[in-house]
Amino acid sequence: MAANTSANVDVIIDTGDREIPECPHGPTLLFVRYERGSSSSKFFACSAFRDRKECSFFQWESEKPLEEKKKIRQDINSKQQLKFSHQEAHNRFSKFKDLCSSNRQFCQTCGLFLLPGELEGHKDHRIKSPITEEMMERPTRLFSPLDNNKTFAQYLFSASAVDFTIRTLEDLSFTHIICVGAPRIFEAIELKKDSTVKGLLLDLDHRYQQIYPPDKFCRYNMFNHHFFDGHTSEEVFKQFMSEEEGKRIAMVMDPPFGGMVEALAATYNKISQQWRTLSGKTNTTDLPILWFFPYFMEKRIKECLPNTQMLDYKVDYDNHMLFRGDVKKQGSPVRIFTNLSPESVVLPSSEGYWFCKVCSRYSAKENLHCDVCDCCPSKDGRTYKHCFKCDRCVKPSKQHCDTCKICQLQDHRCGKPLSNGCHICGALDHKRRNCPKQGTNSAKRGAPEYGTSNKWKRKRTK
Ligand SMILES: C[S@@+](CC[C@H](N)C(=O)[O-])C[C@H]1O[C@@H](n2cnc3c(N)ncnc32)[C@H](O)[C@@H]1O
Ligand SMILES: [Zn+2]
Ligand SMILES: [Zn+2]
Ligand SMILES: [Zn+2]
Ligand SMILES: [Zn+2]
Ligand SMILES: [Zn+2]
Ligand SMILES: [Zn+2]
Ligand SMILES: [Zn+2]
Repeated sequence: MAANTSANVDVIIDTGDREIPECPHGPTLLFVRYERGSSSSKFFACSAFRDRKECSFFQWESEKPLEEKKKIRQDINSKQQLKFSHQEAHNRFSKFKDLCSSNRQFCQTCGLFLLPGELEGHKDHRIKSPITEEMMERPTRLFSPLDNNKTFAQYLFSASAVDFTIRTLEDLSFTHIICVGAPRIFEAIELKKDSTVKGLLLDLDHRYQQIYPPDKFCRYNMFNHHFFDGHTSEEVFKQFMSEEEGKRIAMVMDPPFGGMVEALAATYNKISQQWRTLSGKTNTTDLPILWFFPYFMEKRIKECLPNTQMLDYKVDYDNHMLFRGDVKKQGSPVRIFTNLSPESVVLPSSEGYWFCKVCSRYSAKENLHCDVCDCCPSKDGRTYKHCFKCDRCVKPSKQHCDTCKICQLQDHRCGKPLSNGCHICGALDHKRRNCPKQGTNSAKRGAPEYGTSNKWKRKRTK
């Protein structure tokens, strides 16, 4: 029988004492792909780039590469280094700033600030000039967002989302914000010259190396906690993460939404552990985090980080039709997952949020408290209603079907299973993570949202 190839790949976080091969983007991740009816196959692949055209690394888990192959790989890894080191890129930018605005040219195609005489090499590229001081202070506006690119998925917060985030952190007396994949938050912190809040940006996008010096920006891969500038960057990170008198650190993280929750949670756990060690915290304290992700990933995030809760705040973005509150009737599907007490995060009443005394947290305007469920149950921006037969609140689009004995969409076909069943054995009553046929491997697994996972269907090469 043909296997269901959608989302049938899991990442294995606990790799034991295996040797982990590296690609130009740091240590690779170990994946397992399930084919119904046949045994699973495990392989190492790039953690950041899913498109093989962008990173061609692939290795079966069982493969033992010869020294020759390892050497070729090392050559590939070193050839893929950036043209300029961080310091060189930043020195170039200092020279660029010294030019007068009408002589400043920025190549949007390459994301490069051009020095005198370099325009020649950028024929047919999109060149922006003049470049003002203000433009250089707001690189997230100047740089073309890499939003059509699955890897970078650069969806930028609206001004209201940035203001809300920073105000919340300031109100809670945080002084140091580590911004992982959140350049707009970092930029806003940098622009607040009178504020006591400081930021450190960790992002894969090398264009920021020009604007921000090595003590403000680390080129970083959030899927494997890899610092591209090695020791130098890691020292900057450690310095930032050590809390002392008067210093309170929080982390914000806005990953590409296709990203693997398990790998991201593992990264958070590593960062939190480092913060505990460097700041002398007890093992039971967690680094405060605001993780931006769609509401429908709630279950997966909570499985990985049980101390987090989802806030009702709808996070607006500038450049994503589906995440823009003014375009989508139900508002953006992106929420904030946090280990801060939801009671302490005040959501703006000007946008209709209200404080539910029973739940001790702020709820969205449409999210009405249900006395039977004893919670404010809405998740997707609509008002859920209670079904006494199902004994829970359900989406308003569903109605109770006495044949299926569950609430269903009106045009459903009675008896049709809701899912294609377990990817491993096909049973309908469980998912592959709970499959009894999965074996007793202690590895933690989770299904990454790859959309179509066909890109993982790599052909076995001899
Ligand atoms: C969804 S956008 C978030 C931007 C954020 N909303 C803002 O306005 O600041 C994802 C961000 O993560 C970065 N990114 C993508 N893949 C990454 C990776 N593997 N490691 C670190 N950063 C990555 C992108 O460059 C981008 O800045
Ligand atoms: Zn790679
Ligand atoms: Zn160019
Ligand atoms: Zn409530
Ligand atoms: Zn209810
Ligand atoms: Zn029902
Ligand atoms: Zn039915
Ligand atoms: Zn099963």
